[in-house]
Amino acid sequence: MPDPKPVLIDADPGLDDLLALVLALRSSALDVRAVSVVAGNVSVDACAANALRILEAMDIDPPPVFRGCAESLAPPVRRAGHVHGADGLGGVAHAWPVRRLRVEKAHAADAIPDLARRHAGALTLVAIGPLTNVAAALQRDPEGMANLREIVAMGGSGDGRGNVTPRAEFNFYADPQAARIVIRSGLPVTLVGLNVTEQALLSRKRFHRRLAAMQEGPLRQLLLGATGPYFDFAMQRRGKDACPLHDPLAVAAAIQPDLVQTRPMVCDVADEPGAARGMMTAQPAEGDPDREPGASVAQVAMGVAVEPFLDLFLNTVCG
Ligand code: BDR
Ligand code: CA
Repeated sequence: MPDPKPVLIDADPGLDDLLALVLALRSSALDVRAVSVVAGNVSVDACAANALRILEAMDIDPPPVFRGCAESLAPPVRRAGHVHGADGLGGVAHAWPVRRLRVEKAHAADAIPDLARRHAGALTLVAIGPLTNVAAALQRDPEGMANLREIVAMGGSGDGRGNVTPRAEFNFYADPQAARIVIRSGLPVTLVGLNVTEQALLSRKRFHRRLAAMQEGPLRQLLLGATGPYFDFAMQRRGKDACPLHDPLAVAAAIQPDLVQTRPMVCDVADEPGAARGMMTAQPAEGDPDREPGASVAQVAMGVAVEPFLDLFLNTVCG
């Protein structure tokens, strides 16, 4: 077995962030060195408290948690309480008071490049919220960030679809300027967007069947208690009792890259206010003679092995 891959997860928990964090923390293929939190689905303070709640519910030696940016680089702020609950945890946060853990003193935008330096060339950053912390880190310490092995981000869509507006995905809509900065950073970036995550649907029935067989304890209780509204929202939106595993698919792409098929694409994100805000464009990079070498090319996930991914997810989270 190869050594576990060191990763830092930047998140805005969030219900699919909850599932993604549990997947990452329970995967023997990953070594989660830190969690950083950013404002997104709910405020940065609520996201930080939720990250601590999730870690406390797990029987693990917890990684440090760093609080990050409270505001998007491109106001106005956008939240998603209608999807994740006003507390970001499906309305159950009050039942999970934070007892033992605290956030670290350092700001996420300093902690991310520091950790990248300490793991020179080896650290994968999995970003599953708006990219504000990552962009801030790139602005504060580009040399430190150059030590990252890779950034895998859940955001945008390889086919131009949206979930906030008809053409903008939430994380890119919430901070399009940050998304642009990250895509243009010249670092190796993989984008796992709606075109693939909306294929990665987990039915409530299948999840509950696996939860029923899971070892009794706080984590099972949290997963069962928190995720109801996420399935309800999916049902209301798509008429199917199955939710898209957006953030877990980005984590899975770090665990087992061949679960997604990627293509190098020249990408951009519209950051002006108005109807186009947050819209991602992606053109195949091969054979484009005018593009600057490397500049805004990302590996864009264009296909997903749905069943192998769901198996990996359920076996790791509920196994
Ligand atoms: C993304 O938006 C958020 O609401 C989810 O947590 C996920 O990161 C999906 O568009
Ligand atoms: Ca998220």
